[in-house]
Amino acid sequence: MTETKKSEWNSNLAFMMAMIGSAVGLGNIWRFPNVLYSNGGGSFMIPYIVSLFLLGISFVLVEYAVGFRFKKSLARILYSVNNKLEPVAWFILLVVFLITTYYVCVVGWDLIYIFLSFTKAWGANPDLYFTNNVLHVANSWDGVFSIVPNVFVSVFIIWFLAWLIIKRDLNDGIGKVSKILLPLLCIIVVVIVAFSLTLPGASVGYTQIFTPDWSALTNLNVWLAAFGQIVFSLSLGMAIAMTYASYLPEGSKLVDNAVIVAFSNSGFEVFNSIGIFSILGFMTVSSGIAFNELVTSGSGLAFVVFPQVFNTMGPAANIIGPLFFICILFAGITSVIALLEGVCYSISEKFLIERKKTATAVCIVGFFISSIFATGAGSIILGVFDAYLAYLNNFSLLLAVLMECIIFGWVYKFDDLIETLNENSTIKVGKTWKVVIKYILPICIGGLWIQGVFSTITTADSFSSAIMTILTVVLIVVPIIFAKLPAINKDYYNV
Ligand code: PHE
Repeated sequence: MTETKKSEWNSNLAFMMAMIGSAVGLGNIWRFPNVLYSNGGGSFMIPYIVSLFLLGISFVLVEYAVGFRFKKSLARILYSVNNKLEPVAWFILLVVFLITTYYVCVVGWDLIYIFLSFTKAWGANPDLYFTNNVLHVANSWDGVFSIVPNVFVSVFIIWFLAWLIIKRDLNDGIGKVSKILLPLLCIIVVVIVAFSLTLPGASVGYTQIFTPDWSALTNLNVWLAAFGQIVFSLSLGMAIAMTYASYLPEGSKLVDNAVIVAFSNSGFEVFNSIGIFSILGFMTVSSGIAFNELVTSGSGLAFVVFPQVFNTMGPAANIIGPLFFICILFAGITSVIALLEGVCYSISEKFLIERKKTATAVCIVGFFISSIFATGAGSIILGVFDAYLAYLNNFSLLLAVLMECIIFGWVYKFDDLIETLNENSTIKVGKTWKVVIKYILPICIGGLWIQGVFSTITTADSFSSAIMTILTVVLIVVPIIFAKLPAINKDYYNV
């Protein structure tokens, strides 16, 4: 046997659930409300919807078409397009893997908060509790040598859960888990939003979403923010859609699928933000804290502001609190497994290692890297990783999208992709899509990327610069090594 056994989705539903699960993540829950608020509120929906159609759906289609046409892993696909491009694939996969190592840690913090939320154990000062009692943030960098036991254990649990899912056969693992977790996640969000609308002051919050600041539309940064949110939220460029689409059976309606996935993801974040804003509106009215001080993003929103809100909410918080953190857990887990699948697929296809062994090796290495974030200096290092790789300005993530656009738009025979997409789909793509991928998308991503590089360089202190330098070296050296290692799979080099 020279090939590993090919996986295939046993139903379109499993594929769709896995795709939506991969896209719906922490970004939808705690990134979107802040981006929406800081970029004009209601009027932000215009650049957001334009970005969704023009850039988001367009790029998802590239990943779908490529994955479906080649039916191979990213590394082998890029090797097939041009054998010099294999390191680019390993670069993208390494970025994805490193993102996963800290994403798991944040999901681990959330796991801790699920337990804390039953008794509101964070007390009267959730801010201090988060830094001192949960993260045990050290005052100096030698905190890196002291493990924080609770974070370490929860990070281990999340890696273990991810391993349990991805080591299984595609349909038994990712397919089944997505089909269970995603509907549950939707039910929880509906409950939270419905409840939030009954809170006194809710309207103070949700009207912010519908109150437009039209002047924001002439601000280029607002458009870039919309685009950045779409890239992050739809998990573009991370080889996820490509991997999942490569497991689709013949005859699948690719364009129809992509449109449903993209709409579901955006629908989720817009709907969810009605709940978040209503809850923050309630907090403004009941505590007098200004609304703009409450609309933070990331861990500050989930682990500091929300616990403060739950403190003010009375007995209902004993139900809504755990539900909120469970919601983050479910959204996080379905994204983690998606991030890992593409990485495992490339390794297992090149080195002919069976699924279970690859999953085990990847999860063990991942867990060791995540352990760095479970130390006293962990949360600070995590922040630097995040700024460099994904969250703040999509630094490495954007580079991945840019490279894929150039490779598939310019190096590969683009018209073949149009043919693949249109073969069975009800909705067809044509010349406009080609123009978007070849010209518009690279220009927009280039603009965002330059903005990101600039802000990263200007804001980095010496410690962050040191970590970023190490990351840069790793991101250059490791992909070259992986590309140079000879494939065990004899078919790997058959293009
Ligand atoms: N789109 C998912 C989210 O919003 C997954 C993701 C993870 C995207 C990590 C980027 C980085 O959380």
